[in-house]
Amino acid sequence: MIKLGVLISGSGTNLQAIIDAIAAGDLDAEVVLVISSKPDALGLKRAHDAGIATIGLTREVYNNQTAADELIAEEMLGAGAQYIVMAGYMRMVTGPILNVFPDRVINIHPALLPSFPGAHGIADAYSSGVKVTGITVHFANAAYDEGPIIAEEALVIEEGESLQSLEERMHAVEHVLYPKTLQLIAEGRVAVDEDRRVRIS
Ligand code: GRF
Repeated sequence: MIKLGVLISGSGTNLQAIIDAIAAGDLDAEVVLVISSKPDALGLKRAHDAGIATIGLTREVYNNQTAADELIAEEMLGAGAQYIVMAGYMRMVTGPILNVFPDRVINIHPALLPSFPGAHGIADAYSSGVKVTGITVHFANAAYDEGPIIAEEALVIEEGESLQSLEERMHAVEHVLYPKTLQLIAEGRVAVDEDRRVRIS
């Protein structure tokens, strides 16, 4: 069983998918702490309802990103987290977190990285006219939406599909892929090679 600390900023549907997968016995993990970069994030209520400890950080705390990340690392360590799971966390994670959890910070991004990084992966892919997009789960590093890729799942953008329809299908894939990928980690099957590529055994 692995202990997860989850970072969120918003609605927390991926957090909910993780909570549900654990409850269903599909993910051998425990969420020990949820920290939000916004004190009013809906995801905090989801965590609270599931009996998980929460911390909501304010904009003032993030005025000093290094101090904020030191606080997050300290709280996550104190809660016993072994991995940090970013689930709609709209902030960078920096040295104070990455150094304490090397190759143990995981992010989900709604595009096939390295294409369409940034905060609007779904809309950017949609408006570019690509025919295929998808979801990426990867280890986070100091650069935004970079770091060794653990899993990707492609979706074909259907002819004439609306952005809203694509968004709904993307989120549905995320909610299956994220817990599934975390389960591979829980089973000890995910390693980062010397060449910084992920090997799944
Ligand atoms: C997801 O699309 C995720 O890929 C991106 O932010 C969104 C978070 O949604 N990083 P939620 O907060 O989990 O509902």
